[in-house]
Amino acid sequence: PRKIIIDTDPGQDDAVAILLALASPEDIDVLGLTAVAGNVPLELTARNARIVCELARKTDVPVHAGCDRPLGRDLVTAEHVHGKSGLDGPDLPDPQMPLAEGHSVDFIIDTLRTHEAGTVTLCPLGPLTNIATALQKAPDIAGRIQEIVLMGGAYFEVGNITPTAEFNIYVDPEAADIVFKSGVHIVVMPLDVTHKALVTKARNDAFRAIGTPVGVAVAQMTDFFERFDKEKYGSAGAPLHDPCVTAYLIRPDLFTGRHVNVEIETASPLTMGMTVADWWGVTDRAPNALFVGDLDAEGFFALLTDRLARL
Ligand code: BDR
Ligand code: CA
Repeated sequence: PRKIIIDTDPGQDDAVAILLALASPEDIDVLGLTAVAGNVPLELTARNARIVCELARKTDVPVHAGCDRPLGRDLVTAEHVHGKSGLDGPDLPDPQMPLAEGHSVDFIIDTLRTHEAGTVTLCPLGPLTNIATALQKAPDIAGRIQEIVLMGGAYFEVGNITPTAEFNIYVDPEAADIVFKSGVHIVVMPLDVTHKALVTKARNDAFRAIGTPVGVAVAQMTDFFERFDKEKYGSAGAPLHDPCVTAYLIRPDLFTGRHVNVEIETASPLTMGMTVADWWGVTDRAPNALFVGDLDAEGFFALLTDRLARL
């Protein structure tokens, strides 16, 4: 199995991504969760991450709290998408498991330094503040990261928080800039692909039909979370952004994209946080990322439903 750290701001779709990883021990070894401020403030994302572990009955996974605000800006949150708690929809109990000791950033650095170089993958599902802070604090870790597989950005699908920016990148563009310039190989799941991973009525019914607390909670989460995208984009259901990251680790063959150069806009107020992907190769800037554009949605939902049924 691939050893990973999930850096996250749950978020219903973060929750589903985490559940998929925790349900797949033969493919993914979750070394820990690191919470970051994003969809909701840190206190809530650190709480929600533990609620998800308890829902999955995997309380031995350490959950660390991390950065409570972007590197150089005020925090922008997304209660308009995820609700006041960040995890609106199901009625889940308060977590009993404590937060693990130590800041997310130190956990990321220590884990990368203690495992053999090139064997730990980082999976950011929220703003990149924790990851960028770790890279700044301990530049030696860049060479030890196997890969960064992240959800963020958009190219043809432009933006969801501004006309040109996707939420995770927009919240902390300076952090994203550090990550994309780090020299680490990056796999990007932008809106271009995640807007194709839609929970239609039939797919939601399939989650509910699992009949377990996890299956029912996932159905309730996507029921809540689809409101925003249905109204905004007229889409057929909730886009499962973050689960594209953990599904990719299990079945990369479900996804297609291009190795391109991706740079982050950090100066223009109009296009702040835009992921400028050189999709057509019109510059000589070296590729730094696999920018994913499409997925086999049927295969993705079959995998997800099948794995969630194990929990
Ligand atoms: C991303 O922003 C958050 O609201 C979601 O959890 C996802 O990570 C989508 O733009
Ligand atoms: Ca997220």
